Amino acid sequence: MKLPSGIQIRCLQTMGEREIQGLSDVLIDCVEGGASVSFMFPMTRAKAEAFWRGVAASLARGERIVIVAEDEAGTIVGTAQVILNVPENQPHRGDVAKMLVHRRARRRGVATALLAAAERSALAAGRTLLVLDTVTGSDAERLYARQGWERCGEIPNYALWPDGRPCATTIFFKSLRS
Ligand SMILES: CC(C)(COP(=O)(O)OP(=O)(O)OC[C@H]1O[C@@H](n2cnc3c(N)ncnc32)[C@H](O)[C@@H]1OP(=O)(O)O)[C@@H](O)C(=O)NCCC(=O)NCCS
Repeated sequence: MKLPSGIQIRCLQTMGEREIQGLSDVLIDCVEGGASVSFMFPMTRAKAEAFWRGVAASLARGERIVIVAEDEAGTIVGTAQVILNVPENQPHRGDVAKMLVHRRARRRGVATALLAAAERSALAAGRTLLVLDTVTGSDAERLYARQGWERCGEIPNYALWPDGRPCATTIFFKSLRS
């Protein structure tokens, strides 16, 4: 697949301070832009860093795949994860999570490239079924549908927007067997 110009996709083996700061910038930008991605206003750097430090520890335990998109300067502009620590009766499954692209890098195909990389990495890790949830009616919902994910249904009032209003979620899955 052709990457957006100047963008590199990288699967992190470890996360150091540079990655934690860069990923915090992306997460803060997404929440400040109104995305419903687990966090409420006010979004702080402390909350973002604490989240990514937890992800770094989980990555070190081999519980997830963390993918980043970087621009020509090496700045992280987007990210996605595949959670691998699922119950032992679902060894073939992974959960796609925290698909985030900084507002200044959007609508260039970065998320599409991140999702393709997440699917490839999940398959390489032996996962043939991926599941995710996303805000109903969001840009992300169109992304998953366009990339061949199947829509299972919608759960009303599943989560909150950062300002406290309720939002619905849509559950998707994709079989990687074909
Ligand atoms: C959802 C999100 C990840 C999409 O990121 P993105 O990098 O803009 O996604 P893409 O560029 O791959 O696709 C977005 C749109 O740009 C279009 N596009 C892609 N490349 C393009 C290009 N070169 N020129 C013009 N348009 C382009 C795509 O067709 C798509 O169109 P659509 O709006 O009709 O669906 C981003 O909006 C985001 O981070 N949102 C906030 C966080 C969030 O909600 N995450 C989802 C959690 S599940």
